Amino acid sequence: MTVSMLERARANARKIEATTVEFRLGEIEHLPVADETVDVIISNCVVNLSPDKPQVFREAYRVLRPGGRLMVSDLVLNGPLADSVRKNVEMYVGCISGAEQRERYREQIRGAGFTNVEVVSESGYAVGADAFVEGSAEREAFVMVTSVKVRGQAVRPASPGGCALGALLTAVLASAVQGQNGTVPGEITSQRRRSRPPSNGRSNSS
Ligand SMILES: C[S@@+](CC[C@H](N)C(=O)[O-])C[C@H]1O[C@@H](n2cnc3c(N)ncnc32)[C@H](O)[C@@H]1O
Repeated sequence: MTVSMLERARANARKIEATTVEFRLGEIEHLPVADETVDVIISNCVVNLSPDKPQVFREAYRVLRPGGRLMVSDLVLNGPLADSVRKNVEMYVGCISGAEQRERYREQIRGAGFTNVEVVSESGYAVGADAFVEGSAEREAFVMVTSVKVRGQAVRPASPGGCALGALLTAVLASAVQGQNGTVPGEITSQRRRSRPPSNGRSNSS
Protein backbone atom coordinates (compact mmCIF):
# COMPACT_ATOMS: atom_id res chain seq x y z
CA MET A 1 0.00 0.00 0.00
CA THR A 2 1.30 3.47 -0.85
CA VAL A 3 0.61 7.03 0.32
CA SER A 4 -0.82 7.95 -3.10
CA MET A 5 -3.34 5.07 -2.83
CA LEU A 6 -4.43 6.47 0.50
CA GLU A 7 -4.77 10.01 -0.89
CA ARG A 8 -6.97 8.74 -3.71
CA ALA A 9 -9.15 6.72 -1.32
CA ARG A 10 -9.63 9.76 0.94
CA ALA A 11 -10.41 12.02 -2.05
CA ASN A 12 -13.01 9.53 -3.30
CA ALA A 13 -14.58 9.33 0.16
CA ARG A 14 -14.88 13.14 0.28
CA LYS A 15 -16.37 13.19 -3.22
CA ILE A 16 -19.24 10.92 -2.21
CA GLU A 17 -19.47 12.48 1.28
CA ALA A 18 -18.73 9.19 3.01
CA THR A 19 -18.13 10.32 6.58
CA THR A 20 -18.19 6.94 8.31
CA VAL A 21 -15.06 5.49 6.66
CA GLU A 22 -11.43 5.84 7.66
CA PHE A 23 -8.30 4.80 5.76
CA ARG A 24 -5.07 3.91 7.59
CA LEU A 25 -1.68 3.29 6.07
CA GLY A 26 -0.29 -0.09 7.10
CA GLU A 27 0.70 -3.60 6.18
CA ILE A 28 -1.36 -6.72 6.71
CA GLU A 29 1.49 -8.24 8.72
CA HIS A 30 1.33 -5.29 11.16
CA LEU A 31 -2.16 -3.81 11.23
CA PRO A 32 -2.42 -0.23 12.54
CA VAL A 33 -5.32 -1.28 14.79
CA ALA A 34 -5.62 -1.92 18.55
CA ASP A 35 -6.26 -5.41 20.01
CA GLU A 36 -9.85 -6.75 19.99
CA THR A 37 -11.45 -3.68 18.38
CA VAL A 38 -12.68 -5.05 15.04
CA ASP A 39 -15.95 -6.86 14.23
CA VAL A 40 -15.24 -8.09 10.69
CA ILE A 41 -12.18 -8.38 8.45
CA ILE A 42 -12.56 -8.75 4.69
CA SER A 43 -9.76 -9.04 2.17
CA ASN A 44 -9.66 -9.61 -1.57
CA CYS A 45 -6.54 -10.99 -3.22
CA VAL A 46 -3.92 -9.52 -0.86
CA VAL A 47 -2.85 -12.33 1.50
CA ASN A 48 -1.27 -14.34 -1.34
CA LEU A 49 1.17 -11.43 -1.86
CA SER A 50 2.47 -11.67 1.71
CA PRO A 51 5.65 -13.70 2.27
CA ASP A 52 4.52 -14.34 5.89
CA LYS A 53 0.91 -15.53 5.80
CA PRO A 54 0.86 -17.06 9.34
CA GLN A 55 1.76 -13.58 10.67
CA VAL A 56 -1.09 -12.05 8.61
CA PHE A 57 -3.62 -14.40 10.21
CA ARG A 58 -2.17 -13.86 13.70
CA GLU A 59 -2.63 -10.12 13.21
CA ALA A 60 -6.20 -10.61 12.02
CA TYR A 61 -6.93 -12.69 15.13
CA ARG A 62 -5.27 -10.12 17.42
CA VAL A 63 -7.45 -7.22 16.28
CA LEU A 64 -10.79 -9.09 16.14
CA ARG A 65 -13.21 -8.85 19.06
CA PRO A 66 -14.33 -12.13 20.64
CA GLY A 67 -16.72 -13.64 18.08
CA GLY A 68 -15.33 -11.41 15.31
CA ARG A 69 -15.31 -12.81 11.79
CA LEU A 70 -12.80 -13.14 8.97
CA MET A 71 -13.73 -13.53 5.28
CA VAL A 72 -10.86 -13.75 2.84
CA SER A 73 -11.02 -14.06 -0.92
CA ASP A 74 -7.73 -15.36 -2.25
CA LEU A 75 -5.90 -17.65 -4.65
CA VAL A 76 -4.58 -21.00 -3.41
CA LEU A 77 -2.75 -23.88 -5.08
CA ASN A 78 -3.73 -27.51 -5.64
CA GLY A 79 -0.21 -28.74 -6.29
CA PRO A 80 3.40 -27.63 -6.72
CA LEU A 81 4.50 -24.94 -9.17
CA ALA A 82 7.52 -25.29 -11.46
CA ASP A 83 10.65 -23.65 -10.05
CA SER A 84 10.78 -21.19 -12.95
CA VAL A 85 7.21 -20.08 -12.15
CA ARG A 86 7.89 -19.65 -8.43
CA LYS A 87 10.81 -17.34 -9.26
CA ASN A 88 8.92 -15.36 -11.93
CA VAL A 89 8.20 -11.82 -10.66
CA GLU A 90 5.42 -11.31 -13.18
CA MET A 91 3.69 -14.42 -11.83
CA TYR A 92 4.21 -13.16 -8.28
CA VAL A 93 2.56 -9.78 -8.84
CA GLY A 94 -0.11 -11.66 -10.81
CA CYS A 95 -0.95 -13.39 -7.48
CA ILE A 96 0.12 -16.88 -8.61
CA SER A 97 3.69 -17.52 -7.40
CA GLY A 98 3.04 -16.33 -3.85
CA ALA A 99 -0.10 -18.42 -3.42
CA GLU A 100 -0.10 -21.07 -0.66
CA GLN A 101 -1.17 -24.71 -0.94
CA ARG A 102 -4.90 -24.96 -0.24
CA GLU A 103 -4.76 -27.18 2.88
CA ARG A 104 -1.78 -25.34 4.36
CA TYR A 105 -3.64 -22.06 3.90
CA ARG A 106 -6.52 -23.32 6.05
CA GLU A 107 -4.08 -24.73 8.61
CA GLN A 108 -2.42 -21.33 8.87
CA ILE A 109 -5.78 -19.70 9.64
CA ARG A 110 -6.53 -22.34 12.28
CA GLY A 111 -2.99 -22.02 13.64
CA ALA A 112 -3.63 -18.34 14.37
CA GLY A 113 -6.52 -19.34 16.65
CA PHE A 114 -9.53 -19.15 14.32
CA THR A 115 -12.34 -21.68 14.60
CA ASN A 116 -15.07 -22.70 12.13
CA VAL A 117 -12.58 -22.31 9.29
CA GLU A 118 -14.19 -23.32 6.01
CA VAL A 119 -14.04 -22.72 2.28
CA VAL A 120 -17.44 -21.26 1.39
CA SER A 121 -16.91 -21.02 -2.37
CA GLU A 122 -14.32 -21.79 -5.00
CA SER A 123 -13.78 -21.44 -8.73
CA GLY A 124 -11.09 -21.72 -11.38
CA TYR A 125 -8.84 -18.74 -12.11
CA ALA A 126 -7.35 -17.75 -15.45
CA VAL A 127 -6.95 -13.97 -15.30
CA GLY A 128 -3.75 -13.12 -17.20
CA ALA A 129 -3.19 -16.67 -18.51
CA ASP A 130 -3.55 -15.48 -22.13
CA ALA A 131 -0.38 -13.40 -21.76
CA PHE A 132 1.69 -16.61 -21.75
CA VAL A 133 2.45 -18.95 -24.63
CA GLU A 134 0.35 -22.10 -24.71
CA GLY A 135 2.30 -25.04 -23.28
CA SER A 136 4.65 -22.80 -21.25
CA ALA A 137 5.21 -23.50 -17.53
CA GLU A 138 3.55 -20.15 -16.72
CA ARG A 139 0.41 -20.95 -18.70
CA GLU A 140 0.26 -24.46 -17.19
CA ALA A 141 0.54 -23.00 -13.68
CA PHE A 142 -3.00 -21.60 -13.90
CA VAL A 143 -4.34 -25.18 -13.83
CA MET A 144 -3.03 -25.41 -10.24
CA VAL A 145 -4.78 -22.24 -9.08
CA THR A 146 -8.17 -21.98 -7.38
CA SER A 147 -9.94 -18.81 -6.29
CA VAL A 148 -11.44 -19.39 -2.83
CA LYS A 149 -13.45 -17.56 -0.22
CA VAL A 150 -12.50 -18.76 3.26
CA ARG A 151 -14.08 -17.78 6.54
CA GLY A 152 -13.13 -18.14 10.18
CA GLN A 153 -14.21 -16.90 13.57
CA ALA A 154 -12.21 -15.52 16.50
CA VAL A 155 -13.95 -17.37 19.32
CA ARG A 156 -11.63 -16.65 22.24
CA PRO A 157 -11.37 -18.80 25.36
CA ALA A 158 -12.48 -17.03 28.56
CA SER A 159 -9.54 -15.16 30.03
CA PRO A 160 -8.37 -16.82 33.32
CA GLY A 161 -6.81 -13.46 34.31
CA GLY A 162 -10.25 -11.82 34.05
CA CYS A 163 -11.87 -14.41 36.41
CA ALA A 164 -9.06 -14.10 38.97
CA LEU A 165 -9.41 -10.30 38.93
CA GLY A 166 -13.19 -10.59 39.41
CA ALA A 167 -12.71 -12.90 42.44
CA LEU A 168 -10.11 -10.56 43.92
CA LEU A 169 -12.41 -7.52 43.55
CA THR A 170 -15.28 -9.42 45.23
CA ALA A 171 -12.99 -10.35 48.14
CA VAL A 172 -11.74 -6.75 48.53
CA LEU A 173 -15.30 -5.33 48.48
CA ALA A 174 -16.51 -7.89 51.04
CA SER A 175 -13.65 -7.13 53.43
CA ALA A 176 -14.23 -3.35 52.99
CA VAL A 177 -17.89 -3.74 54.05
CA GLN A 178 -16.86 -5.96 56.96
CA GLY A 179 -14.22 -3.44 58.04
CA GLN A 180 -16.80 -0.60 58.19
CA ASN A 181 -19.27 -2.19 60.61
CA GLY A 182 -17.63 -5.33 61.93
CA THR A 183 -20.15 -7.60 60.21
CA VAL A 184 -20.30 -9.52 56.97
CA PRO A 185 -22.94 -8.44 54.39
CA GLY A 186 -25.36 -11.28 55.32
CA GLU A 187 -25.44 -10.13 58.97
CA ILE A 188 -26.38 -6.55 58.03
CA THR A 189 -29.61 -7.87 56.49
CA SER A 190 -30.54 -9.96 59.58
CA GLN A 191 -29.88 -7.03 61.96
CA ARG A 192 -32.23 -4.79 59.95
CA ARG A 193 -34.92 -7.48 60.11
CA ARG A 194 -34.63 -7.67 63.92
CA SER A 195 -35.09 -3.88 64.37
CA ARG A 196 -38.29 -3.70 62.27
CA PRO A 197 -41.50 -2.58 64.09
CA PRO A 198 -44.03 -5.35 65.00
CA SER A 199 -46.41 -6.48 62.26
CA ASN A 200 -49.38 -4.40 63.69
CA GLY A 201 -47.52 -1.28 62.44
CA ARG A 202 -47.03 0.26 65.94
CA SER A 203 -43.59 0.86 67.33
CA ASN A 204 -42.53 -0.58 70.76
CA SER A 205 -42.42 2.89 72.39
CA SER A 206 -46.00 3.93 71.58
C1 LIG B 1 -4.37 -7.74 -6.28
S1 LIG B 1 -4.47 -6.19 -5.45
C2 LIG B 1 -6.08 -6.32 -4.69
C3 LIG B 1 -6.61 -4.98 -4.35
C4 LIG B 1 -8.04 -4.92 -3.80
N1 LIG B 1 -8.18 -5.71 -2.61
C5 LIG B 1 -9.03 -5.31 -4.83
O1 LIG B 1 -9.83 -6.22 -4.60
O2 LIG B 1 -9.05 -4.69 -5.89
C6 LIG B 1 -3.34 -6.40 -4.14
C7 LIG B 1 -3.17 -5.20 -3.23
O3 LIG B 1 -2.50 -5.61 -2.05
C8 LIG B 1 -1.61 -4.62 -1.63
N2 LIG B 1 -0.60 -5.30 -0.79
C9 LIG B 1 0.32 -6.20 -1.17
N3 LIG B 1 1.05 -6.63 -0.12
C10 LIG B 1 0.56 -5.98 0.97
C11 LIG B 1 0.87 -5.99 2.37
N4 LIG B 1 1.86 -6.76 2.85
N5 LIG B 1 0.17 -5.19 3.20
C12 LIG B 1 -0.83 -4.42 2.72
N6 LIG B 1 -1.19 -4.37 1.42
C13 LIG B 1 -0.50 -5.14 0.55
C14 LIG B 1 -1.06 -4.05 -2.93
O4 LIG B 1 -0.60 -2.75 -2.74
C15 LIG B 1 -2.31 -4.08 -3.81
O5 LIG B 1 -3.01 -2.90 -3.70
